[in-house]
Amino acid sequence: MIVPLCSKEDFTENSMLEIVHDGHSYLVAKVEDEFFVVDNMCSHEDSELILGCLKDKTIKCSLHGSYFDLETGEALNEPADEPIKAYKTLMKDNNICIEL
Ligand code: FES
Repeated sequence: MIVPLCSKEDFTENSMLEIVHDGHSYLVAKVEDEFFVVDNMCSHEDSELILGCLKDKTIKCSLHGSYFDLETGEALNEPADEPIKAYKTLMKDNNICIEL
């Protein structure tokens, strides 16, 4: 099922938004001209990644500083050692979509 999350017009360069769909919180990020969608919750403890900051194609958790790869969800440094879920994104009618 293809799920539209938001319009690409909602973003400026290197920005991110939290989008809640069906009670699930996603983080949608625009880095240069690419869009990424990952789960908004850190895999280490209960901290929303939207509170962190983007650096290149990574998101830094604001609580303990782990970085996650936005393409793969991989945790790049401790204390997080589990990945977050990263979604395949596609564009449909100017909307950023994921496949569920
Ligand atoms: S809660 Fe994110 S690194 Fe600890």
